[in-house]
Amino acid sequence: MADEAAKPWVLCDGGAGFIGSHTVLELVNAGFQVLVADNLVNSSEEALRRVGELTGKPEAIEFVRADMRDAAAVSALFERHPISAVIHFAALKAVGESVSKPLDYYENNLGSLFNVLRAMKTHGCRRIIFSSSATVYGSAVPPFTEESLVGVGITNPYGWTKFMAEQILRDAALADPELGVVLLRYFNPVGAHESGRIGEDPQGMPNNLMPYVLQVAVGRRPHLTVHGGDYATPDGTALRDYIHVVDLAKGHVAALQWIERQTEPGCCETFNLGTGTSTSVLDVVRGVERASGRPVPYVVGPRRPGDLETCFAKVDKAERVLGWKAERDLDAMCADGWRWQMLNPMGFHAAKEAEEAGGGGGEGK
Ligand code: UD1
Repeated sequence: MADEAAKPWVLCDGGAGFIGSHTVLELVNAGFQVLVADNLVNSSEEALRRVGELTGKPEAIEFVRADMRDAAAVSALFERHPISAVIHFAALKAVGESVSKPLDYYENNLGSLFNVLRAMKTHGCRRIIFSSSATVYGSAVPPFTEESLVGVGITNPYGWTKFMAEQILRDAALADPELGVVLLRYFNPVGAHESGRIGEDPQGMPNNLMPYVLQVAVGRRPHLTVHGGDYATPDGTALRDYIHVVDLAKGHVAALQWIERQTEPGCCETFNLGTGTSTSVLDVVRGVERASGRPVPYVVGPRRPGDLETCFAKVDKAERVLGWKAERDLDAMCADGWRWQMLNPMGFHAAKEAEEAGGGGGEGK
């Protein structure tokens, strides 16, 4: 018991979402206790219950329903436990929606960051890991290195919130020698935990490629529309750096362990979390066909406005400094994503109702 009490607590805000829930699992497996705060707008408490099951340590996870825009609620989180570090996931992330609701995006994504930074200062918590995105590279020339120019050619408010949040954190670290900041630039996170118990559960029509392809394979949607077949790429479709969400989650643990070792004042470091491999839309389609044994019908439509032709990372800094490297390939991403989709065809909500009714529902064995 005394041992348990001595373990550090990490606050994961937005920790019930896709990337958050996988990261909570890896943190618990690495020996941390995790306080999860989430407003459940695009996430599910059921994911955390399953993380508790998968780790066998449900007591290492505490959940609070809280909106990080609420400064008093954020401050109260730090009164529950001594928090050694924050992983700040909580944000809105739908690119198209950010164009139609820019104020919501700036208010939510930046307001919550201010609240977290102020509460950290008040309560003496001096380590933060921030969920940034490859979107900050805008129209820079790939492969993107951490030193590539950022902020030119960002096409939407979501992307600007990530760019601005990075700058806010850099300035905060400059002003406060005790603050340690890690900016993690995610490439395209996909896949699911290999158990098939947790995964991505988009509400309504998926915006992103992999969940859409999986829903076509499982029969929820008739076909995929490939956004553009006339790019100057080997098969004419756009290239991305897809990263397995479990690798991404492990990247957070590596970043946390690294920042906890840093002693230099006002430390702020940026890392790409990707694989360094570029994969086309049709490669993803074929990968899901192989994993599922089912056809994924598609039609080729026009390019999606704002899309880049090619986006992939240079990943050697994370390997050199953090000792972290993505290990799972496209086949693992598709196989694990498919297992999650097949076992939970309607996501967490329907599965939970079925479990409560005692039927097991879409939950296979
Ligand atoms: C998008 C965002 C990025 C965000 C990421 C994760 C843009 C420019 N970038 O990345 O900021 O961090 O999502 O939320 O929007 N595709 C299809 N058909 C579909 C869906 C997608 O062909 O139905 C194609 C896209 O055109 C793209 C590729 O698949 O070439 C990947 O798309 P997506 O999964 O949406 O990710 P990004 O656009 O790379």
